[in-house]
Amino acid sequence: MRKQIAAANWKMNLTYQQGEKLLDDILGAKIELAPHQFTLFAVPYPYLLMTRSEVQEEQHYYAASQNCYHKKSGAYTGEVSAEMIHSLGINYCIVGHSERREYFSENNAVLAEKVDLCFEHFITPVFCCGESLEIRETGTQNHYVAAQLKDSLFHLPEEKIKDIIIAYEPVWAIGTGKTATTEQAQEMHRFLRSVVASKYGETIADQVPILYGGSVKANNAKELFSCPDVDGGLVGGASLVSADFIEIIKALK
Ligand code: PGA
Repeated sequence: MRKQIAAANWKMNLTYQQGEKLLDDILGAKIELAPHQFTLFAVPYPYLLMTRSEVQEEQHYYAASQNCYHKKSGAYTGEVSAEMIHSLGINYCIVGHSERREYFSENNAVLAEKVDLCFEHFITPVFCCGESLEIRETGTQNHYVAAQLKDSLFHLPEEKIKDIIIAYEPVWAIGTGKTATTEQAQEMHRFLRSVVASKYGETIADQVPILYGGSVKANNAKELFSCPDVDGGLVGGASLVSADFIEIIKALK
């Protein structure tokens, strides 16, 4: 059975103390997850160890990094490598969030390097893709998103691609309150799965979780997650409010 994932992306929000409280509140809800369901907390670097220790007694809850640098090590002041993240016992990392692509000029080639470094250090990448409003308005979103996948992932061998998590996040829906309709989400997710299948075959494509991101809220999560090819969500704003994120976790199918 394909994994179903609720992934929180705190971005650059919350103090350490607020983060600790939020985790306590969410974990305190004792939500029972099925074996194929899990929750990720992608927190700022300085909170990774705290988050790891908060979740370590739990099953199905894991800390994740929001990013890593695309070089192995060296004179890159202020950057954090995949190896460093791994050395903290963290096994998940978001790669290629649209905010990284936009504000830090991360392109598909750089993201391919990050994906490789993650795998080298036993970290599962949560690889983000998604089109801007401009692209959607010209109707070329499928071509655009397929290129993101091909350029950053298609050099991977089968045994690696089957372990990846993909997150489809239409840029026009992130933080805007404008969610993709279930039809738009399902259509794109099915398409992305077919792109993976075209290179790696149906069996592998069927195993890859594809999360939806972009204004997932407590009141729309269930409907979005009920789409056959939507395997959970990558959640920004609503992951900062315990009551909301608890509902989102409960909406996993
Ligand atoms: P949002 O962010 O839920 O606040 O739209 C999602 C994301 O950027 O991962």
